[in-house]
Amino acid sequence: MKGLILSGGKGTRLRPLTHTNAKQLVPIANKPVLFYGLEAIREAGITDVGIIVGDTRKDIEQAVSDGSRWGIKVTYIDQPEPLGIAHAVAIAEPFIGTDPFVVYLGDNLLRDGIGDLVQEFLRRRPNGQIMLARVDNPEQFGVAELEGEKVVRLEEKPKKPKSDLALVGVYMFDSSIFEAVKCIKPSWRNELEITDAIQHMIEQDFHVESHIIDGWWKDTGKLEDMLEANRMVLDTVEERIEGSVDEGSTVEFKVVVEEGAEVRASTIRGPAIIGAGAILENSYIGPFTSIDRGVRITNSEVEHSIILEGSVIEDIPVRIADSLIGRDVVVAQSPHKPKAYRFMLGDASRVGIL
Ligand code: DAU
Repeated sequence: MKGLILSGGKGTRLRPLTHTNAKQLVPIANKPVLFYGLEAIREAGITDVGIIVGDTRKDIEQAVSDGSRWGIKVTYIDQPEPLGIAHAVAIAEPFIGTDPFVVYLGDNLLRDGIGDLVQEFLRRRPNGQIMLARVDNPEQFGVAELEGEKVVRLEEKPKKPKSDLALVGVYMFDSSIFEAVKCIKPSWRNELEITDAIQHMIEQDFHVESHIIDGWWKDTGKLEDMLEANRMVLDTVEERIEGSVDEGSTVEFKVVVEEGAEVRASTIRGPAIIGAGAILENSYIGPFTSIDRGVRITNSEVEHSIILEGSVIEDIPVRIADSLIGRDVVVAQSPHKPKAYRFMLGDASRVGIL
C-alpha cells in the first residue's frame, strides 16, 4: 500500500498567511497540519509516500525532507497547476503503479488516524473506499447520498445538499481510479474533481464502500476551522512544563511550556501550548491558545488564538481573541501623536477593532 498526500493548491481562504507560506504548514498546536497526516499514514503502516507539491514545493521539502524523521520514504511529485484532486491522482500514476493507495488531503486532520480504515480496505479490497462525516455546512464539501449503506451519488459542493454527509479528505483506491479520472471533465471551478471520478466508478459498477466516521475530523482551509482544529488538538495534550515559570506566575490545566520558554508574572489557563524560546511577561494566556516558538507577549492578554513564530504582542489594553497571527508580526501600541491606529497589513488581512 502506498500513500499520496496532497500538498499543492493555493490556500486562498487562509490569505494573507498563504501569500508567503503553504497552507499545509500552518501549525495546529505548534505542529504543521501536514505532519499530522504524515503521522497518520506512518501509523497505518505505510512507508512509501508521494507528496503532491505546487508553488510551495521548496517550503514543503524543507519541512518534510526525505521523510526519515517519520520512518517513511518521500517522493515529491510536481503538479504545475492545482487542477484538482483527481488531476493530482492522475499525475501520481507512475509513482503508484498498480499498488492500492490512500489519498490524504494535506490540510485534513482526523482524530482517530486512518489505521483501522486502511486495515478494513486491505481486508475487503473494494475498488474504492471513502469516509463520510456529518457536518452542519455540507454545501462546502463533497456530499454523499446513501441508500441504506450504499453510496448512490456524490456531488461536489452542492447548492442544495441531499444529505449532511461530507466526504472526508481521505480516500483509498486500487488502480481502477486512474481509468475513472480519464473519463471525467473539469467542473465549474475548472478542477478535475475526485468526487466526480468516484461517482464515475459507482456508475460503472465498481465497488465503492463508505464509512461514516464518528471521531472528530477537520478540514483546516479557513480561519474558523484552524481555530477549531487547534481547540480539538489542544484538548488532547498532556501537561508538560519544560521551560521556566517564575513564582509570580500561575499555570492551570493542560498547559505545555516547551524548553527554553520563559513565563514571568503571567497566568496561563490551558489547554494551551507555549513554544520553545517564547517569552511571556505580565500577560494572560487563556484556553485554546497556541503560542509558537520565539513569540514575545508583554502586558497583554490572548485567548483562543494561534500566534506564529517570532511575533510580538506588546501593551495591548484589550484581550486578543479568535485570532490567527502570522510570523514576525508586531502588534503594539502606537503612542506618538497624532493619536491613530497604524497598520501595515498584507493583502486580504482582517482587523477587528473596538
Ligand atoms: O476536506 C474535504 C474536502 O476536500 C472534500 O469534502 C471535497 O469533496 C474535496 O473536493 C476537497 O474540497 P476542498 O475544496 O476543501 O479542497 P482543496 O482545494 O482545499 O484541496 C484539498 C487539499 O489538496 C489541499 O491541501 C490542497 C491540495 N490540492 C488541491 C488541489 C485542488 C492539491 O495538492 N492539488 C490540487 O489541484
